[in-house]
Amino acid sequence: MAAGDRTDFAEAVHAALGESGALGATVRQLATQLDDRPGRVESALANLARRGRVRRMGRGLWVRREYEELSERDDFADPAEFVDRFERENGVRLGRYEGPITFRSNEQLPVHRWWPYVQGFSAEFVRGILDRYPPAVGGSVLDPFAGSGTTLVEARRNGWAAEGTELLAPAVLAARVKTNFELDPGVLERRAERVLRLTARASPGTLPFLRETRRQFAPGALRDLLRLRDSLPAEGRPENEALRLAFGRILIPSSRLHRSPCLGYSRGRIPDGPPVRDRFRAAVQEMAKDLRSLADERSRWGPRAVVERRDAREGAWPAESVGVAITSPPYVNGMDYVMNYKVDLAWLGYARSYRDLAALRRAEVACDNLPRAEASPYLGTATVPDPWLGEILEQIRENVQKKGTYRRDDMHAIVHRYFSDLVPVLRGVRRALVPGGRFVVVVGDSLIAGTYVPGDLILARIAHALGYHIESVEVARSRRSGQRRSFSLRESVVVLRKP
Ligand SMILES: C[S@@+](CC[C@H](N)C(=O)[O-])C[C@H]1O[C@@H](n2cnc3c(N)ncnc32)[C@H](O)[C@@H]1O
Repeated sequence: MAAGDRTDFAEAVHAALGESGALGATVRQLATQLDDRPGRVESALANLARRGRVRRMGRGLWVRREYEELSERDDFADPAEFVDRFERENGVRLGRYEGPITFRSNEQLPVHRWWPYVQGFSAEFVRGILDRYPPAVGGSVLDPFAGSGTTLVEARRNGWAAEGTELLAPAVLAARVKTNFELDPGVLERRAERVLRLTARASPGTLPFLRETRRQFAPGALRDLLRLRDSLPAEGRPENEALRLAFGRILIPSSRLHRSPCLGYSRGRIPDGPPVRDRFRAAVQEMAKDLRSLADERSRWGPRAVVERRDAREGAWPAESVGVAITSPPYVNGMDYVMNYKVDLAWLGYARSYRDLAALRRAEVACDNLPRAEASPYLGTATVPDPWLGEILEQIRENVQKKGTYRRDDMHAIVHRYFSDLVPVLRGVRRALVPGGRFVVVVGDSLIAGTYVPGDLILARIAHALGYHIESVEVARSRRSGQRRSFSLRESVVVLRKP
C-alpha cells in the first residue's frame, strides 16, 4: 500500500474515533464502522498512537488524545460531584475504612483458603464489623449474598448463629463445607485415599458439556480429572461434600485457565504442574490440618450455620431475628458469576447444559450478559427506585445511542434492573433485622458507557427510601475501571441501621 493511502486511512480512523468522543471505540467497532479489516485498523491506530494522537485506555478501548479525560465532556458528572451532592442531600460525608477488605488476605488463612473466591471479602473485615456491631443475645448474623461463606465462617467461629443465602452452587458447597467445623479430619483423609485408589481402576468418563474443555486441559490431566470426578462419592455425607469441594478447587489450577478476576486462559503450551492426584491429596490434607487446629477453639463456636441455595430477592428471613447483616452483592455491571464459575458448575454436575447456565444467570442479580428478554421490562426509566438513577439511566441511554456500536443498546435497562434487584433484598433484610440492627454492605461504583454510576451512594439512598438510616459510607480502597484503566473507582462500606 502506498504511504499516501496509509495516511488517508489513518485519518479516516482518527475521524471515526472522533465520532465516539470520550467514550472511545474498539478495533472491531472501528472496523465495522469503516467496513475494513480489523488488522488494518489496528496498524493505523498504532501509527496514530506513535504520533501521540490517540491512546489505548485498557480492555482494547481507544480514544482520541483530546478525550483522554472524561471530564472534557460537558455532560460528565464525576465522582466528586456525586459525593458533594450526597453530603448536601443525605447529610452524610464519606469517611475512610482502614484495613484489608479483599479476599486476597484470606488466601493463606485456615478454612478460608479451601476455596479461593476472588470476589469474596476478607475475614478480617468481617471480624472487625462483628466487633463494631456485635449482635445482641439471640440475634443472628445474616449474609444474603453469602458467596463462599466468609461472613458465616467468621460469625460461627466467634460464637454467633449464622445464616446465608446464595445461588451459585459451587459457592454454596464451599460455604457449607467451610462452616461444618465438626468434619472429622481423619475420616476425610481416609475417604480421600479410598477415592484415589478407585481412580487407578476407573476409565475416564464423559466430558462435561462445555465445548472448549479439550482445549483447556492437557490430555493427561483431563483423563485424571475425569477418573477422579467419577470416583467421588455422591453428595450427602459431610465428608463427601468436602471431597467434592477439594475436587472443585483443583480444576482451574489443573488447566490453562485463570481468574484475574474474570475467567481467561493463557495461550501456548499448558504448563506442567503437580499431577492431579497430588493436587487433590494436598487440598484434602490442608483441610484436615485446618480442621485439627479449629478443634482447639471448639468452646467458642456458635451453632451450626444455615446455608441455603436460594434467591436473596425472596428475602424471606424470619422477622426481627437478625442482629447484624454483612454482605457484598455483585457490583453494577460487574462480574458475570455464571460465566466465571461455569467450569466448576459443569464439572461438579450443577449445570448439565448451556440452558442450565442461562437459567442461573437470569436468577442472579443482573450483569451485562443478561438475556435481552430479561432486561426489556426495565427499558423505561419513568419509575426508578431513586431519582439520581433516572438521570444516570438517561445519560447511559444517550451515550450508547450516540456511539451506535456499544456492546449492547439496552445497557441502561441492565443498570435499572440491577438496582431493582437489590430492592427486595434491602426490604427483606430490614424486616429480618432487630430494631437498631445494622446492614453492612460492601459495594463498588462503576463506569458504564462513559457514565459514572455511584453504586454505593445510590444503594444507600434506595435503602434510606425503604426506611433505613444511613449511618456511614466509608471508602475502603480504590480500584481501576476495566473500561478505562486511568479512571479510578472505589469500593465502599455502607452502614445502614434499622431505626
Ligand atoms: C461479591 S460475591 C459475595 C462474596 C462473599 N462475601 C464471600 O466472601 O465469599 C456476590 C455473590 O452474590 C451471589 N448472588 C448473585 N445474585 C444472587 C441472588 N439473586 N441470590 C443469592 N445470591 C446471589 C453471587 O453468586 C455471588 O456469589
